[in-house]
Amino acid sequence: MNREDLFKNIIGHAKEYGFIFQSSEIYDGLSAVYDYGQTGVELKRNIREYWWKSMVQMNENIVGIDAAIFMHPTTWKASGHVDAFNDPLIDNKDSKKRYRADVLIEDFVAKIEDKINKEVEKAAKRFGETFNAEMFVSTNPRVVEYKTKIDTIKKRFVTALETDNLADVKQLIIDLEIACPISGTRNWTDVRQFNLMFSTEMGSTAEGASTIYLRPETAQGIFVNFLNVQKTGRMKIPFGIAQAGKAFRNEIVARQFIFRMREFEQMEMQFFVRPGTQKEWFAHWKERRMKWHNSLGFPDTMYRFHEHAKLAHYADAAFDIEFDFPFGFKELEGIHSRTDFDLKSHEKFSGKKLQYFDPELNENYVPYVVETSIGLDRTFLAVLSASYKEEKLEDGSERVVLNIPDFLAPVKVAVFPLLNKDGLPEKAREIFDKLKIDHVVRYEEKDTIGKRYRRQDAIGTPFCITVDHDTLNDNQVTLRYRDTMKQERVSIDNLAKIVEDKVSLRKVLV
Ligand code: GAP
Repeated sequence: MNREDLFKNIIGHAKEYGFIFQSSEIYDGLSAVYDYGQTGVELKRNIREYWWKSMVQMNENIVGIDAAIFMHPTTWKASGHVDAFNDPLIDNKDSKKRYRADVLIEDFVAKIEDKINKEVEKAAKRFGETFNAEMFVSTNPRVVEYKTKIDTIKKRFVTALETDNLADVKQLIIDLEIACPISGTRNWTDVRQFNLMFSTEMGSTAEGASTIYLRPETAQGIFVNFLNVQKTGRMKIPFGIAQAGKAFRNEIVARQFIFRMREFEQMEMQFFVRPGTQKEWFAHWKERRMKWHNSLGFPDTMYRFHEHAKLAHYADAAFDIEFDFPFGFKELEGIHSRTDFDLKSHEKFSGKKLQYFDPELNENYVPYVVETSIGLDRTFLAVLSASYKEEKLEDGSERVVLNIPDFLAPVKVAVFPLLNKDGLPEKAREIFDKLKIDHVVRYEEKDTIGKRYRRQDAIGTPFCITVDHDTLNDNQVTLRYRDTMKQERVSIDNLAKIVEDKVSLRKVLV
């Protein structure tokens, strides 16, 4: 199956099993806005909790906050979002479709990168064990030509954006002969900037309403609370403030399901450091965050770093952690060295000092900040798409199973009575009632056991427990494992420990 079809199946599966619904579906939906259903909400909660625990609970110098979505409008002037949080847009006059100019160019570059990868794969096959990929990439004339082309495109694009030369961004698209994927033509409008913030009115017009924004990143709630937290928490630099919460962006090219949404959730951490030490902390957090992703247990080859060619207005270094989604490698998390831009700017706009007295240096300074910023919805999509498997079984039947890491699984255990009589439901409910105190557990008595197993496989439940007539005599149940489908008889007295050992965060939180 090609990856496009696979992605369609994943989206269909997410709806069928209560992971994700289109927002306001009965009114034909709201574009790029989604609701999490009864299964999805549990997976999302578990991912958020795993991030929170590994960030806040496991680090004695990181604390959390929960700031409001609405903030004083000057916040966004100071942060640079009012003036600079823009996407360059271009329309195709024939299809009337609107695109982000940077995405059109990035997609073009990605195609050249694919060509390089194919050359490397071909050569690796040809040369076998003696193949040296690094040497090949730096010496093979065709690959060198491709790489030079990529560098030239990137340089021209970055310069055009930095000098606000939108005419040259358009000219680059024309020179690269990029066509609209819908109409196939190169009949483009001019490129123009579009601000991504949603705004609304606060207060009645009689009182003189003011325009406020829905926050486009959670980070600013942390910056404006920097001194509150530092003083009341008596925090010593280096220290971090973490937050998980909603952010809003009026994305113009919203596609790829929950990858790019207009309302989404971020999990961010700002790490405040002594000026001059930001490089080493940046390297530290880059490595720590990749380790966190790898701890989910998916192949390491599904993750890679990508260095930003064009830095945001606040950054002096930036890397993305990209994930191999069904539509290719795309950004999952950003790690940014934000300098002292935000705090200094808030000092300027608020007239309040946002400085730290460093007792070791005996001086005041505005700290530098290293930020880790991950999208909760994108992590959800990464987990869902990497876990989704369509399997052909030995007996010729098929199943869809989600090999979700056990500690993230939305439902940890399902309990079934084999038959709906003879005291089996009562015994099964006893087990259900015991386990539900510590875990999300489902009880099911409808349909054959085989069908009940399939339903649990489809939502990624690691354990199914079946109570049969023997249970009433020997106090044992059949425990069935999701991934191997192996079954074993275990004592009811051991169930809690077996489940806890497998789904506990203890093994991963290090
Ligand atoms: N405070 C820095 C910041 O907001 P960003 O790279 O714009 O940086 C960080 O966003 C992360 O938020 C991204 O890596 C992505 O996971 C997530 N994100 C950004 N825009 C999103 C959108 N429209 N839909 C879903 N997730 C998004």
